[in-house]
Amino acid sequence: MPVVSAPENPLDFEGAAIAVGHYAGGEQTSWLAKLDEGLGGAISQLRTAGEFKGAPGELVTLFHPQGKTKRILLFGLGERSDATTARAFQACAAAAKELAGKDRPRVAFYVEPTWSPALQASGLAGALVGSVGQDLYRKEKKRFPFAELAWAGGSDATLARGQAVADGINLTRRLVNEPPDKIYPEAFADRAVEAGKEAGFQVEVWDEKRLARERCGSLLGVAQGSEKPARLVIMEYRGRGDGPWDVTLVGKGVTFDSGGYSIKPTDGMKTMKCDMAGGAAVVGAMHAIAREKLPVNVIGLVGLVENLVSGSAFKLGDVLTARSGKTIEIHNTDAEGRLVLADVLDVAIERGAQRIVDLATLTGACVVALGTDITGAMTNDEAWYGEVKSAADAAGEWIWPLPMFKEFGDQIRSEVADIKNVGEGRWGGAITAAKFLEEFVQGKPWVHLDIAGPAFLDAPKPWLDAGGTGCMVRTLFQLAESLGDARRE
Ligand code: BES
Ligand code: MN
Ligand code: ZN
Repeated sequence: MPVVSAPENPLDFEGAAIAVGHYAGGEQTSWLAKLDEGLGGAISQLRTAGEFKGAPGELVTLFHPQGKTKRILLFGLGERSDATTARAFQACAAAAKELAGKDRPRVAFYVEPTWSPALQASGLAGALVGSVGQDLYRKEKKRFPFAELAWAGGSDATLARGQAVADGINLTRRLVNEPPDKIYPEAFADRAVEAGKEAGFQVEVWDEKRLARERCGSLLGVAQGSEKPARLVIMEYRGRGDGPWDVTLVGKGVTFDSGGYSIKPTDGMKTMKCDMAGGAAVVGAMHAIAREKLPVNVIGLVGLVENLVSGSAFKLGDVLTARSGKTIEIHNTDAEGRLVLADVLDVAIERGAQRIVDLATLTGACVVALGTDITGAMTNDEAWYGEVKSAADAAGEWIWPLPMFKEFGDQIRSEVADIKNVGEGRWGGAITAAKFLEEFVQGKPWVHLDIAGPAFLDAPKPWLDAGGTGCMVRTLFQLAESLGDARRE
């Protein structure tokens, strides 16, 4: 979606629609004043009559029959003092979603000239994300992404940043929204290779033979039940040349999770194409980071399998040997994500990982704990967690810590093998899963992000269609940006 800068006076814009941001109370922009004048005072009258208050998410359409652009969408930004990147993203996304309900090829956004570059980039990213839906295979589309978006204010660099982040999010959403018959391990790996060519990072793909040679017995144990062979994708981006990795991103890429022999009921299984959302977020973030040429070295790894049932599938009681040498007794084949990540983390460390963030739709228990909008964060290193948390706060995404007391680790001891793949009973399931992962990080600073809640929407939000959300792409991009800034200082 090409982004251009909009003319200074909104009355000069020629296109299908103008979206104009409006704060609740307080001073309004000169753009609004000009539009109000062109509309014979319609906007101020609406405000005085209490028909439009400028609350976040509020939308009112006006028509300007004499104007170069006839449709004006007023959208609320909330209180000026509450301006955050999250609100900028959501408000602009809500307006874009509304406008993209019909084919409107050229639209302009006039939001707020005094916004910081971070707010401008977030607003623009929101506008570009909100206009894209999940109707990939419908003949009659519900959402029509703009052919061109004109954005008022903000430097070229700011616009490029917003666009790179939006493209990363939309790439992630697309990978999640594509059905599991289209996105299986090899297909996902092909998409990652394409993304690398497009944005400028190296991609290496390990096939099932290489995975076997590398003794990835834990990942391959899960893949065993599917006719689709497993893959491991390794993406390398060097934005500051030689030297160590500034950050290592690891993603769960279960392209479909039936649960295996611990099979899921239909209701729990029907959206399990989303079980590669962590891996998709890693690809989306790599794409955005490389496109923006951030001055950091980032390596991203995604373990790709399909968790199915067949005569060759892994079973309860099986003992798998992970790449690290640890043996794992299987007590539940639906606790498969941690088995995949165990081997991917081991490869990551061999490749020189120093500071790790893993992303995974890992546990329903995390959704029970924190709800569907918040990412659970678990760590072995408070300082590294602090950096990830600051990035999430700045990016406008919600993460919240869960404790990692040693007692949770005691629950995964096995009588038969070194560890087993689930805790005793279901309580604290997000934490026992994280404790399992911790067994494979060799004490490296590590943050585990459980995105089982926010990765996928069952129902639409005012600012986003249902389906994949692209959550954590903004946070990962922000983290890479902050690490790059820290290096320059
Ligand atoms: N992919 C699921 C977790 C999940 C649940 C993701 C809901 C998105 C939405 C994961 O592989 C899983 O099945 N976890 C089990 C773990 C249990 C068997 C210990 C779960 O949460 O029930
Ligand atoms: Mn599962
Ligand atoms: Zn899963």
